Amino acid sequence: MKVFHNISLRNRNTFGIDIKADRFISIENEQEAESLFKDRTLISGQSLIIGAGSNMLFTGNFAGTMLHSELGGIRVEEINNEDVIISSGSGVNWDSLVEWCVGKGFGGIENLSLIPGTVGASPVQNIGAYGAEAKDCIYKVRAVSILDGSVSEFSNSDCRFGYRDSIFKSELKGKYFVTTVFFRLNLNPEMKTEYGALGEELQKLGAVTLRNIRQAVISIRKSKLPDPELFGNAGSFFRNPVVSAEIASSLKTEYPNMPSYPDGSGGIKLAAGWLIDLCGWKGVRRGDAGVHDKQALVLVNYGNATGSDIYNLSEEIKESVIKRFGIELDREVEITGPI
Ligand code: EPU
Repeated sequence: MKVFHNISLRNRNTFGIDIKADRFISIENEQEAESLFKDRTLISGQSLIIGAGSNMLFTGNFAGTMLHSELGGIRVEEINNEDVIISSGSGVNWDSLVEWCVGKGFGGIENLSLIPGTVGASPVQNIGAYGAEAKDCIYKVRAVSILDGSVSEFSNSDCRFGYRDSIFKSELKGKYFVTTVFFRLNLNPEMKTEYGALGEELQKLGAVTLRNIRQAVISIRKSKLPDPELFGNAGSFFRNPVVSAEIASSLKTEYPNMPSYPDGSGGIKLAAGWLIDLCGWKGVRRGDAGVHDKQALVLVNYGNATGSDIYNLSEEIKESVIKRFGIELDREVEITGPI
């Protein structure tokens, strides 16, 4: 375990916001987490779990204790002719896990290639892209209670997964520190190639293999999403809104080209990026805070934007989408600090 005081988080959030945390604790194994949360003397003030900081916007210094996983290790737990259960420490880089699985021929998470962040965040956020979501493969999640240090395991259904949502973002928000995530993967995978440009991109590569899906997803992501190493960002800033069939069909009358997809439970999911784009935001900058010029759903820190600069821009965007379409966007990114 490592404990840091008054530490800058500039390199620990993908927006590259320069703020400080009073205390930052890196946890290297489950036993450390158990004793830290039982004993609690090292935890001062409020606590917040931070992975790679790839879905967070800090609007001020953090007066409390940040908890960070450095639990490593990827293992095969069980294998038969059809599927395999693997486990991964929560501190493993998500894309390294995807690469490892593709290399072994274990299918299920290849469409989630290049998503920034750690394995520990994958169940919390139910990460998703190109027709797949983490929930499709998560078998169980092992976590330590931050309140008393007890260890629990959550089955897939215990996690109550939804669109970019889980029990760890609602009832159990901030209450459990994920240590290990178990995935059930397929040795004869059904490959998902339907989403948007994925099919086209795959054709350029030839055979439909796990490796080629990974390659195609990487190419599409690189063409649309800014590299956080170059321009601070947190991927999609807002969730795609779900509206009723009536609202969707009246919007379709006015905008016949509007992208829309059934959400699987009676609602219609719209593309927030398209709504924002139509409001004229693509490429707009307010100082160093801006809207990406290739994907209007992504807000960018072009250098020295503060969290508040990005937040204020997001408020302006929300207002304009309400004004034009009557739809209120929800942020996907977690705001930490004063607003
Ligand atoms: N669109 C526009 N203009 C834009 C952006 C999008 O017209 O500026 C249109 C696109 O042409 C397309 C539709 O909107 O018809 C959807 O766009 P895209 O396929 O790029 O996906 P998205 O809905 O904007 C979602 C996820 C992404 C994920 C992609 C691919 C959310 C909030 N975002 O974006 O996830 O990579 O689908 O599956 O669900 C993330 O969560 O951080 C993230 C990047």
